[in-house]
Amino acid sequence: MTARTADRGARTTGLDLHLGHISGTVRAGLMDAFREAIRADRLAPGTRLPSSRVLAADLGIGRNTVVRVYSELISEGWLTALRGSGTEVSQRATELTGRRTRRQPARPRSQPVHDLRPGYPDLSSFPREEWIRAVKRTISTAPFEAFGYTDPHGRSELRETLARYLARARGLRARADNVIVCSGAAEGLRLVVAGLAKAGVTKVAVEEFGLQTQRQALLKAGLEAVPIPVDSDGADISLLDRSPGLGAVLLTPSHQFPLGVALHSDRRAAVVDWARRRGTLIIEDDYDGEFRYDRSPVGALQGLDHDHVIYLGTASKSLAPGLRLGWLVLPDHLVEVISSQKGETEETAGFVNQLAMTDFIESGAYDRHIRAMRAHYRRRRQQLVETIRQHSPGTQEAGMPAGLHVVLEQPARNGSELARRAAREHLAVEPLDLFRHPESTSDRDGVVIGFAAPSPSGWSGALDALVRALR
Ligand SMILES: Cc1ncc(COP(=O)(O)O)c(C=O)c1O
Repeated sequence: MTARTADRGARTTGLDLHLGHISGTVRAGLMDAFREAIRADRLAPGTRLPSSRVLAADLGIGRNTVVRVYSELISEGWLTALRGSGTEVSQRATELTGRRTRRQPARPRSQPVHDLRPGYPDLSSFPREEWIRAVKRTISTAPFEAFGYTDPHGRSELRETLARYLARARGLRARADNVIVCSGAAEGLRLVVAGLAKAGVTKVAVEEFGLQTQRQALLKAGLEAVPIPVDSDGADISLLDRSPGLGAVLLTPSHQFPLGVALHSDRRAAVVDWARRRGTLIIEDDYDGEFRYDRSPVGALQGLDHDHVIYLGTASKSLAPGLRLGWLVLPDHLVEVISSQKGETEETAGFVNQLAMTDFIESGAYDRHIRAMRAHYRRRRQQLVETIRQHSPGTQEAGMPAGLHVVLEQPARNGSELARRAAREHLAVEPLDLFRHPESTSDRDGVVIGFAAPSPSGWSGALDALVRALR
């Protein structure tokens, strides 16, 4: 028979089958098309094929032809007849293609055996059961409208719940209208800096140690990131007045990242005063403010002045970074310029997570989880500090009892060398240098150690590896 049309698709009950170009006689052409689809991995071993009746109808050819094609391909080893009825691609088919195994998916990024990098919570403690219940209630009760394109500012239910929660737990002055839900604090910061750049800001002060990705976000928006020194009382606010042209300062006031100190109360007042006098803004990154172990967490700076502080919060430390849930609380006059950096229908956090989070907070599960994790992390931090004191007397840990990391300073050694020694013990820690602003003149050095990431079963092994690296 003459060549058939190229690239035809055949529909079956519950199965779409795409065969390539069928050429030559119908029988030979169909056999070749099957072989080619298996060779190219478009039909993987175990793929169920349509019945001969359905395929014949879809291709407009006689059923007997399909029956013969199937039976010949079975005898050649490409297909297997299933017990009862049905046909599937044979598990041995890959041997006929000359490949011994199927193509492997790309390998995930390699994980260190012991992971003490900062930034990760204990993922194995994610409250799966309670989250499942929240998701289930969400799917059962969400209005149909929620399944469509919704407000890029975020679901109103979550914005209202967050406004109440943040006022209660972090001392914010917030209304739902000022809350924007975003895909983690990282997206929140991108929206903020793009909005500020649009409003005419050109320079933003940053702490001399901080997240490189945050400095990059500033640069990408065309803003200059001007470093200010950090000492044991946090960022040196007095220097802001000496740096002309600043439009804002980015701070981690509750727990400096990564040095681990809190902004002194005098400096909290001074930075608010600076913002009011100069008509500038404070961007408050409250990434782990819930975790203070010696006393109640200090309230957010935003509580002191909701007109000059842009608040950035996240579920990445309190729950899991993979949820990609973060929130901004904006001064009234900035809501429009910052939220307009999102597209018209761009919903960067899907409604299921947003409404599940609403449910999770409203049911009290979020508070319970944070309390449990606080106790868990407090114990870990204590064990880490005791281990270091016992096994490495020359080492000092910097920072207050808070958050999910500590900084280790070893005067006689540099941080990068320590991180390399750790790597030889299959332990990942991060040198302080990784967080240093390129123009910083600080001579502080050390490694940043996250104590949250290992699962309970991996924790003691990680501590042992650290002791070996510190020797
Ligand atoms: C200082 C700081 N801010 C914010 C974040 C949270 O980012 P996100 O919410 O995008 O996960 C992190 C996470 O590592 C962080 O270390």
